[in-house]
Amino acid sequence: EKGGYEHFMLKEIYEQPQAIRDTFRGRMRVKEGIIKMAGVDDHIDKFINAKRLVILACGTSWHAGLVAEYIIEELVRIPVEVEYASEFRYRNPVIEKGDIVIAISQSGETADTMAAMKLAKEQGAFVFGVCNVVGSSISREAHAGAYTHAGPEIGVASTKAFTTQITVLTLLGLKIAKAKGKISTSDFHMHLEELNLVPQKVEEALQSNEQAKKIAEVYKDAANFLYLGRGFNFPVALEGALKLKEISYIHAEGYPAAEMKHGPIALIDEQMPVVVIATRRGHYDKIVSNIQEIKSRKGKIIGIVTKGDVTVRDLADYVIEVPEIMDSMSPLLTTIPLQLLSYHIAVMLGKNVDQPRNLAKSVTVE
Ligand code: M6R
Repeated sequence: EKGGYEHFMLKEIYEQPQAIRDTFRGRMRVKEGIIKMAGVDDHIDKFINAKRLVILACGTSWHAGLVAEYIIEELVRIPVEVEYASEFRYRNPVIEKGDIVIAISQSGETADTMAAMKLAKEQGAFVFGVCNVVGSSISREAHAGAYTHAGPEIGVASTKAFTTQITVLTLLGLKIAKAKGKISTSDFHMHLEELNLVPQKVEEALQSNEQAKKIAEVYKDAANFLYLGRGFNFPVALEGALKLKEISYIHAEGYPAAEMKHGPIALIDEQMPVVVIATRRGHYDKIVSNIQEIKSRKGKIIGIVTKGDVTVRDLADYVIEVPEIMDSMSPLLTTIPLQLLSYHIAVMLGKNVDQPRNLAKSVTVE
């Protein structure tokens, strides 16, 4: 059942090229230049006229929502807000006519997300579900939706659900942008072609496994980790830290790289590994200066870089390479080595990778 892998988590990490392909296959027609999503097509006027999108989710799904905020705001030019479902439901939220609420949930059973979406529905919002489990409660409660086609995710640590959620939300953003005339035909085509290449680039990113293992061996006994990223990769830093926390029980924090100097920089010393996502297209110079700040405080730097990078390689203690890609799609690649790093650390520390203590696969209580 684990297909020759030692753990479900590792199997699911390796399933990502196929899971992403399954998620866009049948929806994205590259040659014709169209994206078909029944749940969106049936309500296209609502999406065209939406004043705002509000995304509700928990945990890793919330991180996927944050990535989507960056992508959709860029493409569609309408405000996107991303809310923890548990906070939204208890704070008398402002929902206005013309708001579309997107509930993201792998299991489709998360109690807080379910309650938050019901509240939004009561207040008149149109609710769109992005779930992995077909027929799940959230998918049934939504007015419309789009499934991620990740296949069953057994490991408690979410991996392929995250990358397929980002895939669906990218398709959604592109589709709305096109319907609203916010993207040129050539730009739209370019995005489709680039997305079409993602599975093979994820395949390539998976080749970082040995390097991730080597780095895990060096830093597995660290008491703390810091993860930094900017732009599209800021949420990836949060997700990398969450992965490490939940399966290795090492304390980790994710931060937007430039926020470091407003506090967390005080934590940095020679004991502190700092994972920095420093791909070439995303605010590269800014990230390089953040890396210099860490280095001058003797922090240990693990850089996630674009293939062929030299500048960060010179500054960092270790680097892991991912293929070159358009900035907005880079989270689909930069996430991979972070999943592998946390996996190897947890295995080396003898932790129960697939079923970490205190956690359940779906959180059906609030
Ligand atoms: O099934 P959901 O996507 O609604 O689950 C949300 C969170 O409970 C989930 O992502 C959790 O944070 C994962 N264990 C993270 O790996």
